Amino acid sequence: MNILLIAGGWSGEREVALSGARQIEKGLLAMGHHVTLFDPVRDLRDLYEAASGHEFAFINLHGSPGEDGLIQCLLERIGMPYQGSDSRASLLALNKAVSKQIFEAAGLSTPAWEFVPASHVTEWRPLLPFPLVVKPNTGGSSLGVGIVGTEEELECYLAQPEIAGQDLLAEELVKGQELTCGVLEGCVLPPILIRPKSGEFFDYESKYVAGATEEICPAPISAELTEKLQSMARAAHDALGLADYSRSDFMVATDGTPYLLEVNTLPGMTATSLLPQEALAVGLSFEQLLTRLIELGLR
Ligand code: DAL
Ligand code: MG
Repeated sequence: MNILLIAGGWSGEREVALSGARQIEKGLLAMGHHVTLFDPVRDLRDLYEAASGHEFAFINLHGSPGEDGLIQCLLERIGMPYQGSDSRASLLALNKAVSKQIFEAAGLSTPAWEFVPASHVTEWRPLLPFPLVVKPNTGGSSLGVGIVGTEEELECYLAQPEIAGQDLLAEELVKGQELTCGVLEGCVLPPILIRPKSGEFFDYESKYVAGATEEICPAPISAELTEKLQSMARAAHDALGLADYSRSDFMVATDGTPYLLEVNTLPGMTATSLLPQEALAVGLSFEQLLTRLIELGLR
């Protein structure tokens, strides 16, 4: 099949997307597909020309213009099939404040939060008590995430140039263990326990420096907690109206309560990324996972 692999983009996660794309390309070529790489950073209007002669678009973008539904919207206009969730659901899921309202309406516990529009950041005084986790409302890969314990730390956080102009989300800090759980084709995958070897949380470095984090799959947790995380991941996937696959990220507090942080519609897709590891744990190789995502996208 002729596949247009869309990767790169202009978000802070550009390099992550390109590095995933190299492995996806290798996997697709190994299965006999023809692959053309399209990087929307050039000009989005080129997409229509690039798409011609291709039967499927495999999207590996993180943040805008892929995880927010923009690329999906353009592909929908030209009737080009692609994997994963549609433009509408992608837009909801990338917006953390919107998804948290949807989680709460669905009865899914999520850390207490405040939304701070970019226009209000300078005069914002948190209503929630410190310590807080503050992050860009539509970011990924932990870019721009800060843990702030005092007014002074908050001021330093807000003064960072990379925060400027962005809507923010502040959340109550949940102390405990970080876990993640994927959904694939209506089934839930085994959760992974994430243990960064240094630093306060699963930050950008812990995510992408080889060996910086211990990732244990299936997570060594009770069957009861596994089931709870899986049912929350499935419920969140359904509540957001997602399709085919997603990965939900959790904090499990020291008292054992799981809190849903967010759902990723285009989770990291290197062969050793979290969702591919979970798929491997149920017997699906990276190539088989790619094949399944394409089959689902063609339906
Ligand atoms: N945003 C990163 C790529 C992830 O969720 O895996
Ligand atoms: Mg994310």
